[in-house]
Parts: sequence; structure tokens; C-alpha cells
Amino acid sequence: MPIVVVVGGQWGDEGKGRIVDLLARKARVVARYSAGNNAGHTIVNERGEFKLHLVPAGIFYPEKTCVIGNGVAVDPEVLLGEIDALESRGIDTSRLILSDRAQVIMPWHKRLDQLDEEMRGDAAIGTTGKGVGPCFIDKVARRGIRVGDLLQADDLTGCITTTLAYHNRVITGVYGGAPITFEECFDVYRNYGIRLRSHVGDVQAVVLDAHRRGEYVLLEGAQGSLLDLDHGTYPYVTSSVPSSSSSGAALGVGIGPTDIQRVVGVFKSYSTRVGNGPFPTELHDETADAIRDHGKENGRGEYGTTTGRPRRIGWLDAVAAKYSVRMNGLSALALTRLDVLDNLPSIKICTAYELDGQIIETLPSRESVLNRITPIYEELPGWQSPTTDVRNFDDLPVQAQAFIRRVETLLGCPVDLISVGPEREQAIIVNPIF
Ligand code: GDP
Ligand code: IMO
Ligand code: MG
Repeated sequence: MPIVVVVGGQWGDEGKGRIVDLLARKARVVARYSAGNNAGHTIVNERGEFKLHLVPAGIFYPEKTCVIGNGVAVDPEVLLGEIDALESRGIDTSRLILSDRAQVIMPWHKRLDQLDEEMRGDAAIGTTGKGVGPCFIDKVARRGIRVGDLLQADDLTGCITTTLAYHNRVITGVYGGAPITFEECFDVYRNYGIRLRSHVGDVQAVVLDAHRRGEYVLLEGAQGSLLDLDHGTYPYVTSSVPSSSSSGAALGVGIGPTDIQRVVGVFKSYSTRVGNGPFPTELHDETADAIRDHGKENGRGEYGTTTGRPRRIGWLDAVAAKYSVRMNGLSALALTRLDVLDNLPSIKICTAYELDGQIIETLPSRESVLNRITPIYEELPGWQSPTTDVRNFDDLPVQAQAFIRRVETLLGCPVDLISVGPEREQAIIVNPIF
């Protein structure tokens, strides 16, 4: 049975959590493979509304195993808080397994995230401030602390002593910040290790054993491909690999790329971005306000799940989206938030860019060039009728059908799933993903 990756196709917040919650119905294992609690995945199902930052969106099904892979940066305080919050709402978290190879976000990572953003000034990335970037820097620098290190007091003492000495020199010398003491860290993190011990296990074995038993495995991506460290709008990206390339999804749970059969890209019916950086189709008008505040009265407008920041809004960028389809080797698209466009008289899709008088159909790699391109739009009629209760493609207004067909053509990939609301059942399954 296939291992299926669900990956964000844009700049994050496409509705990955919502899609994973729906698809998890048929899966045995649901695994997060990258990023940290910079992610915020909203799930609305029969148990209520949940905002998850680390726990995979399969946790609501009692019989599923949920996994946090080695590719994830784990803030134990956030993870334990999330476990406690789920348990307090009656969700069993005993089937949550955490890789001992996952990196741990330490107090200095959060401090450095903030200090570094301050130092960048006007060129700040607009990070979530959760310490995720500095944690991945330590991973690559081979001085990271991993979940396994929290389990042994001796190991933890050694790791903290060495790493803290280095970071205090950076914090005080480079940034002029206040140093962090060993005492601030050791007892707290040792205690986290004791509390997390029962969840630590062999993630690779869980994923591959399920796969070999013929059960479905879902790999839940975080962020979006245009925030990818290698392929995104660098340097305004995250510090990990959200895309499903072998260095992302497969590496993040310790399997080979050939174990993955399908990659589903989640795209909004328009675009959003939080944080700074190029956004070719960004809008600054009343259409942007209408999209951002759609559902705001129910707390469901376009405001960050992790930081609460208003999301920047723009039309669907088919050039960037097609780049994303290719980078991920997508086999299917899940198009979300179609209902948010329900009231608009017309809808635009960016089909090319103009750069210095030339038409281009690829996403430039350099920030200075990205800031100079002008989107070229195709305008489609809106449908101006509600889609939230539609469950069959043929029952959608013809203009909505035409919009979706146009997206498929421009992106060169079939739309297998359409989401018309935040709740689990508010979806049109065009072709079953599993
Ligand atoms: P993720 O990070 O990709 O999981 O996405 P977020 O949870 O950060 O943001 C997506 C938001 O859109 C959440 O508030 C979801 O509840 C909501 N959502 C998902 N799909 C739909 C949809 O089809 N329609 C509407 N109106 N909201 C949706
Ligand atoms: P989900 O999984 C949207 C953005 C930040 C910032 C940049 C770098 O919910 O889609 P970081 O804290 O990672 O160093 O910030 O990446 N970012 C996200 N934007 N959704 C996310 O996750 C994001 N995770 C990081 O806003 O622009
Ligand atoms: Mg999100």
C-alpha cells in the first residue's frame, strides 16, 4: 500500500492539516517529517477545532499511530503542552511516537531567533520566532541536542555544557544579548526527557512495518514549497525542507524515496503568505480584505495559526504553483478554500510574469528579480453562489468548475480533492487519493 506525502504547494497554511485529517481515515500511520512548531495546522472535526503545531493531524482517530520523525525540530515544552491540551479534551495521545533522532529546540534557539531578526532590521525574514531556524543551524553545525540526549542525565549535562558555552559567546559577543545559564536549562529539559520517555520510539520501523504490512502511511508536510530552504524564495524561506524531495519527506522519517508512491500538493484557491519576502501576486485592495476577513467572525479569517499575524493575500500564482508541482513531483492536487471565493464577481489567476519587457513563465530565483516582476493575469468569471454544501463536482456552479479545470491545465496536474469548508466532511472527492 502506498506511502502518500501531503505537501504544501505555496507559502504555507494551505490547509494541510485539514486535508490530512480527512485522508487519515484510511491510513494506519500519520507522520510529521519536517519543521517544528513554526507550523500551525487547524483541524475541525467532530471533536471540535484544534490547532496543532507538532502532533500529526491523525491523532483524532483512536486506532492510528502518529509519528514525529527525525526531521522535525521539537520544542518539548510545546509538544508536552499540546499533548496535555489534547488529553484534556479527551483525545488519547498514547499512540504518539517521537524519534530519538529529532532535534530539540533549546532556550538559546528562541533567543537567537529573536536577536537575529532584530539585527537584520528592515531585511528581517519575519520568522515565527519559535527558534526553529537556529535549531536547524545547530543540526547542520553538528552541535544540536537530540531527543535521545534528553533521556540520559549524563548525556544531557555534556551536551548542554558544550553547546551553551558556544552559544553564550555568540549571544553576548555578536548580538550583545544576555547569556543563558546552565541551571536555566538542565533541570527543565531533564524533566521534559522524563515526561517524553514513554513516547520515544523507532519511527523508521513504525513507518516501514506498516508499509510492508500493506497499510497506508501518510506523511504530513509542514510549511509550503515556496518556503523551502533550497527551492523557495530564498532568503525569505524557512530553515528546513518542506518539499517532498528525498531530502525532505523520506529523510525526515528515515525511508528511501522509492518507498513513496504518491505526493499530494495542497493549494489554496488563491495565495497567502505570512512573514516577509517576495509575493508577486500580492493584493493591497478591498478584495484582499474580503478574502482575509472571510469567516473572521468565527475566528476563521486569514490570520496566522501560530503567530496570529494577518496573512498577506494575493491571487493564485500558477507560475509559482507549477514550479511547486515540478519540485515535488506531484501526482494530485487538493484545492482548498474554494468557498472563500464564493462572493467574488471575478477571479484572477497569474499565468506568466513580465520582466523588463519580456514575458517569462518561470519563477526567478533571485529576490531582486522577484521584486521587479509584474504578474500577467487571466480573469475568470466568479460564481457568486455558495459552495460549502456541495459534495459532487458536477453540482458546483459551472464557473467554479471552469476555474478548477483551468487550474488543472495551468498546473499540469489533476485536482483530486476540493475543500469547500474547514470541516472534515466539507470536501468534494473527485478521485480518491487512497
Ligand atoms: P495548514 O498550516 O496548511 O494546515 O493550514 P492552517 O490551518 O494554518 O490554515 C488553513 C485555514 O483554513 C484553517 O483555518 C482551516 O480551518 C481553514 N480551511 C481549510 N480548508 C478550508 C476550506 O476549504 N474552506 C475554508 N473556509 N476554510 C478552510
Ligand atoms: P504551516 O505548516 C506559513 C514562515 C514564517 C517566515 C518564514 C521563516 O502552518 O503551513 P521560521 O519561523 O520558519 O524561521 O520562519 O517561514 N513560516 C510559515 N508560514 N505557514 C507555516 O507553517 C510556516 N512556517 C514558517 O512566517 O516567513
Ligand atoms: Mg498553518
